[in-house]
Amino acid sequence: MQKGHSAVLAGLGAWLPPRVVDNHELSERLDTSDEWIRTRTGIRERRIAGADTSTVDMAVHAGGNALRSAGSDVVDALVLATATADQLCPASAPQVASGLGLHGIAAFDVNAVCSGFVYALATAAGLIATGTADRVLVIGSDVFSRLCDPADRGTMPIFGDGAGAVVLRRGETHEPGALGPFDLHSEGELADLLIVPAGGAKQRESADPHDYYVTMHGQTIFRHACARMAESSRTVLERAGLDVADVDRFVGHQANIRILQATAKQLGLPGDRVVANIGRVGNTSAASIPLALADACEDGSLQRGHRVLLTAFGAGLTWGSTLLTWPDVKPG
Ligand code: UT7
Repeated sequence: MQKGHSAVLAGLGAWLPPRVVDNHELSERLDTSDEWIRTRTGIRERRIAGADTSTVDMAVHAGGNALRSAGSDVVDALVLATATADQLCPASAPQVASGLGLHGIAAFDVNAVCSGFVYALATAAGLIATGTADRVLVIGSDVFSRLCDPADRGTMPIFGDGAGAVVLRRGETHEPGALGPFDLHSEGELADLLIVPAGGAKQRESADPHDYYVTMHGQTIFRHACARMAESSRTVLERAGLDVADVDRFVGHQANIRILQATAKQLGLPGDRVVANIGRVGNTSAASIPLALADACEDGSLQRGHRVLLTAFGAGLTWGSTLLTWPDVKPG
């Protein structure tokens, strides 16, 4: 990226719905157990949005917190990463902008499911690099629990709801907070590995109610997630002229603690560099990375000057990574 045209992280915000659903509560309704969920995924509890709370509502909360953290509510564009837009049409981002009082700014959705936040960061960095925007609000917000069949023990224990956001400003390539390089990929041939078959434009209706919920081939996704996140992490490090040993904090998409550990192992990264908040939030899809960043800031494990590797993998399939040095930013 050209000097003076980098996207620099200037604010961070998170928001979780108040209702906590722990594994014991789920075990009362599903053929599962706290022990199975904890040992197979690392998840102890997750937040579930109430019926009156939507993706837009959560995004407004997290976005407002990120603007507060940045100390300014001036932004030229809003990029919303989500796979659970309030409606099939239109995109939700303009409603989020409106909810935040950001009238007239550019606003659009990016759907790369669990990789959505990294894709949205790259999109926002591109808006800044081309001079289209000076400051961009990037939000990841998903109510993924609504895509899960309440009777499915294969998905209900995994996913949770939430939103996280960052403010990016135009800055210098070598200053703390500058994002990049980026690495993004997809493999649409494998879309069926995690899919909601019905409800979209291709198949608006189905006689089978299960078609409106997510179906997931967990084991295959697991293997792809580890391999792709490790591969993409190596790519950004190589492009940046860095080594795995230069990474202070590894913030991977929070899908399963075993995926994070296996990916770190493939990379040769010590376990104490892995940031993990999946235990308390589950897999929050596009919100996962900013929620992990916010929690790591709050508990002191992420500090100014740390070199941070962000990597994500999701349905599509999609995956991608980027790097930054943590700036003097705290969650708002
Ligand atoms: O966000 C990106 C997309 N999603 C992911 O990255 C998810 C990736 N996949 C995973 O995290 C894991 O594959 C899961 C957590 C989904 C499943 O864990 P697993 O270790 O791959 O389990 P499995 O599917 O191989 O099932 C092992 C056993 C089976 O029983 P048998 O056949 O060995 O008797 C399942 O029927 O565990 C059983 N099982 C359960 N038992 C209790 C599956 N789900 C449950 C459950 N509670 N919830």
